[in-house]
Amino acid sequence: MKTLYINIKQLLQVRPEGILKVRGADMANLPLIENAWLLTEDKIIKDFGAMDNCPHDIENKLDCSGKMILPTFCDSHTHIVFAASREEEFVMKIKGQSYEEIAAAGGGILNSARKLADTSEDDLYKSAAKRLEEVISYGTGAIEIKSGYGLSLDAEIKMLKVIRRLKKNYNIPIKANLLAAHAIPLEYKNNREAYIKLIIEEIIPLAAKENLAEYVDVFCEKGFFTVEETDSILKAGKAHGLVPKIHANQLAVSGGVQVGVENNALSVDHLEEITENEIEALQNSNTMPTALPSCSFFLGIPFAPARDIISANLALCLATDYNPGSTPSGNMQFVLSLACIKMKMLPEEAINAVTINGAYAMGVSETHGSITKGKAASFIITKQIPSYAYIAYSFGENCVDQVIF
Ligand code: NIG
Ligand code: FE
Repeated sequence: MKTLYINIKQLLQVRPEGILKVRGADMANLPLIENAWLLTEDKIIKDFGAMDNCPHDIENKLDCSGKMILPTFCDSHTHIVFAASREEEFVMKIKGQSYEEIAAAGGGILNSARKLADTSEDDLYKSAAKRLEEVISYGTGAIEIKSGYGLSLDAEIKMLKVIRRLKKNYNIPIKANLLAAHAIPLEYKNNREAYIKLIIEEIIPLAAKENLAEYVDVFCEKGFFTVEETDSILKAGKAHGLVPKIHANQLAVSGGVQVGVENNALSVDHLEEITENEIEALQNSNTMPTALPSCSFFLGIPFAPARDIISANLALCLATDYNPGSTPSGNMQFVLSLACIKMKMLPEEAINAVTINGAYAMGVSETHGSITKGKAASFIITKQIPSYAYIAYSFGENCVDQVIF
């Protein structure tokens, strides 16, 4: 079926074919058509242009007067499969304990793992589906979801099966990321090598054999996994066809960026604590630096230095990190606001970071991330808003009227 969207106040992020990401000074450029039309046919973008040459022969029309259209957000980093929220830790933080202290006392990821072990696949599916529907309503049209609250063969596979059910039942790109290396489980506290062996020799091979994951991830951080452990887990993943992504430099300079780049990671995520060395490592690589500003906001830790990254002619992606411990929010519009307010990104840079660069960081920029002929008809129709900068400016407001996908 053909659908014609007409009188679009601005059609945003209009790109020719073949642009898979944008970097450096180009991030400040958001190509658009004023007073535009957009034609879709059978879930594909067929054509678009300015209203003075709008096609006349299409019956099915939607008037978008006063509204903008932009590609759906690609959220390349989430943990939306989890058993329960953790607001008790939130209160501990208010009283002065740090994320690391709570984790060291058996809270944090281990707390989520305990709860997940006792939750059925069905119940996990129901709560994750609810979160997915919520983030779609805020404009997300493609999402990467990690395991990592299982921390055993059975529970990691259970999480990945939940993601597989989401893929089957929701008509948006969903990528599964095996993050068994999220924390050392309590029972391996004095024998971490044995857990790493379990990941390498059992969890990765089974997840790959059952086609349950596209990516492999490691929390490379002081108190979690070392650079050497990260390297061997990423290499094992690669040997089984999983593409590396990585959690790096959230709490300290960890060497995670370098080991990610050396292993050709698709993205290195967090980057709250980086120096010139990390920026240099990212230059001349295909790895996408990814910042998670809602996590910085929630934990009260530094924001990734977006200006330094962009000035170094690098690309930058933004994602939510939606999870129960460090980011209980999957709202990409709030990410846009934080990027502009706290990281001094221009609205154009922030929108590029959550669309085309987000698509790159989850391997879907051939089909998503821009308004391009032949790409998926996956876009947001905003409410009537004065300008696109307003989406970031009016923090907390839902500017999305409809999500088409
Ligand atoms: O990306 N950093 C590691 N993982 C999550 C937090 C997980 C948790 O606390 O449950 C993150 O911030
Ligand atoms: Fe994360």
